[in-house]
Amino acid sequence: MRIGFFDSGIGGLTVLSEALRRLPDMDFLYMADTLHVPYGTKAEEDVRAYILDSVGLMMNEGIDALVVACNTATSIAINDLRERYSLPIVGMEPAVKPAVEMNRATGKRVLVFATPLTLQLPKYYALVSRVDELGIVDSLPLPELVHYCEKLQFDTAIMQDYFRTKLADYNLDDYGIIVLGCTHYPFYKQILREMLPAHIEIVDGNVGTVKRLSALLSRYGIAGGGGSGEVRFMCSGHEPAYIDKMQKALAILRERDALSESLAT
Ligand code: DGL
Repeated sequence: MRIGFFDSGIGGLTVLSEALRRLPDMDFLYMADTLHVPYGTKAEEDVRAYILDSVGLMMNEGIDALVVACNTATSIAINDLRERYSLPIVGMEPAVKPAVEMNRATGKRVLVFATPLTLQLPKYYALVSRVDELGIVDSLPLPELVHYCEKLQFDTAIMQDYFRTKLADYNLDDYGIIVLGCTHYPFYKQILREMLPAHIEIVDGNVGTVKRLSALLSRYGIAGGGGSGEVRFMCSGHEPAYIDKMQKALAILRERDALSESLAT
C-alpha cells in the first residue's frame, strides 16, 4: 500500500516523519508543489487550481490514500478533492480545538500561528467560532516563515530574532499554548521551545493527523500495508536539487525523532 502526502513544499515532511514512525509497513509518495510554493501568500482561486493539478499528478502515480499535509491546502480544496476522488483522504486544520480544551483549566489564552491565507479563509473563522466560546484564541500570520523553512534556515539566533520581533506585542504570560497551524512550522519547534517561557506548550496537529489516517485505513481495510517505509519524492517542477533538499530535510526530522525517542527511554 502506498500513501500519498501532499504539501506546497517541505512542510508536509513533518507529518510524513510521524507517519514513518507509526506506520512502518506502508510505502509513501511525497509530492511538493515546488512551482508554486508558498501558497499562504497567494490568491485562493490560484492555489485551488495548483492543488488540483498537483494531486492529479499524484493520482497518476498510483496511491491508496492521500494526506493533504498542508493546512492551507486543506482549507481551500479538501471538499473538491473528496468530490473528485473516492480514496481515503485526510486533511489538516490548526489544532485550535484541543488547545482550547487543554487551556480551559488554566484560563490562559491560545495563540495560533498559521499562513495568512489559512487565517483569512472561512474554514478557520468557522473553526474558531465553533470552539472558542470564551474568546481566548488569538491568531498571528507568519508569512515569512515558509520562506525561511524552504531555504533550510534553521540558525537558532536568526530564527529566534525573527520570532522575538513577531511576538514583541504579545504578553506571553497571558498565553498557555501556541498552536503551529502550518506544517512547515514544526521545523522550528525546538528553536521556539528554547526561547518561550516554560509554561507555554507548543502543539501541532501531526500526531492527530497520523492517528486519523491510521483509523481511516483500518476502516477502508487497507491497514497492514505490506510495505517497508519506502519514500518516493516528486515535485511539480521536476528539479533534482529539490528532491535532494527534501531528503535532507526528512533526514533532519528523523534524526530529531530518534534523539527525542532515545531521551524518552
Ligand atoms: N505547509 C503549508 C500549511 O500547512 C503551507 C505553506 C505555504 O505554502 O504557504 O499551511
